Amino acid sequence: MLLLPSLRALGGISCLFQLHMLCLRTSSTNGKLIDARKAMLRSALTSNERVDFTTSVKCLMNLPPKTPKSWAPGVTSRYDDFTAAHINMTLLIHGNGVFLSWHRHFLYLFEKPLIEECNYKGAVPYWNWPWWADNLAKSQLFDGSETSISGNGYWNESAPVQTNGNYTFPRGHGGECIEDGPFANITTGFRSFTLSEFLAQGLPSDALEYAPRCVVCDLNSAISVETPEIVSAMISASTIRDFQNFLDRLDTINTNVLSSYPGGHMAIGQSMND
Ligand SMILES: *[C@@H]1O[C@H](CO)[C@@H](O)[C@H](O)[C@H]1NC(C)=O
Ligand SMILES: *[C@@H]1O[C@H](CO)[C@@H](O)[C@H](O)[C@H]1NC(C)=O
Ligand SMILES: *[C@@H]1O[C@H](CO)[C@@H](O)[C@H](O)[C@H]1NC(C)=O
Ligand SMILES: *[C@@H]1O[C@H](CO)[C@@H](O)[C@H](O)[C@H]1NC(C)=O
Repeated sequence: MLLLPSLRALGGISCLFQLHMLCLRTSSTNGKLIDARKAMLRSALTSNERVDFTTSVKCLMNLPPKTPKSWAPGVTSRYDDFTAAHINMTLLIHGNGVFLSWHRHFLYLFEKPLIEECNYKGAVPYWNWPWWADNLAKSQLFDGSETSISGNGYWNESAPVQTNGNYTFPRGHGGECIEDGPFANITTGFRSFTLSEFLAQGLPSDALEYAPRCVVCDLNSAISVETPEIVSAMISASTIRDFQNFLDRLDTINTNVLSSYPGGHMAIGQSMND
């Protein structure tokens, strides 16, 4: 079985951890916020709302962690409490029946400190992928402006290519640390992992150790652009098994078609592969 769905978790923060979450946003029982959340589902955020969201995430990144460093030496902020929990649980929460529900609840838990500790008035928004799949780098989401969630990485000709089995995708136009946007040059305390390492040994023993690096980004529409078909296939699936198969799309090894889950990771770059 292609284990890509399991891999993302290992990197923790990745090329913006919240991107993962954007696809899987939660619903909430906080009555006051439900109206705002419905509004977010219906329409794109205003620029002020987009900035409020990234500002609240940055706030979380500046608060001290609650996780003891003795348990996860890589934690550097309150945000990393979530990164560490996600890394630790990764083998149990991907590629199986709890995948969506676990992440929905996780998003709810992530949203709480944004609201309660960082005064965020909105909700964790979600990414309507087909809108921008054919040109990620020019999208409102990734154009590198202050109202985006991120820009691309600095160009690095030697950055690794993305592969799907034996199929090699064309490179994006980044590959290094994030060049612009609200999270320019952002770093994480957790190491990254490769597919082969994960397949060989499961969760590495140093997965939660302190190994600082910058988060890299290589926006790649050659990977993301196939998604509208997959989204239609998912929507028309008549069983949860078919739905999850389209989500994880296990039958596309060695082709240039990736489903939403691995495609969403790999279209952002190496930091999102693990
Ligand atoms: C770490 O993962 C184990 C299961 O592998 C789980 O029992 C434990 O509660 C997790 N700890 C945290 C802090 O998430
Ligand atoms: C470019 O990527 C290669 C391969 O990952 C790496 O060894 C090198 O350090 C990177 N260059 C820069 C300037 O970061
Ligand atoms: C890649 O190609 C080799 C040689 O044809 C084959 O043995 C291997 O199974 C392929 N890998 C995948 C993931 O299909
Ligand atoms: C990011 O790092 C590069 C290289 O060190 C530096 O030139 C650039 O000014 C930094 N950008 C920001 C926004 O800090």
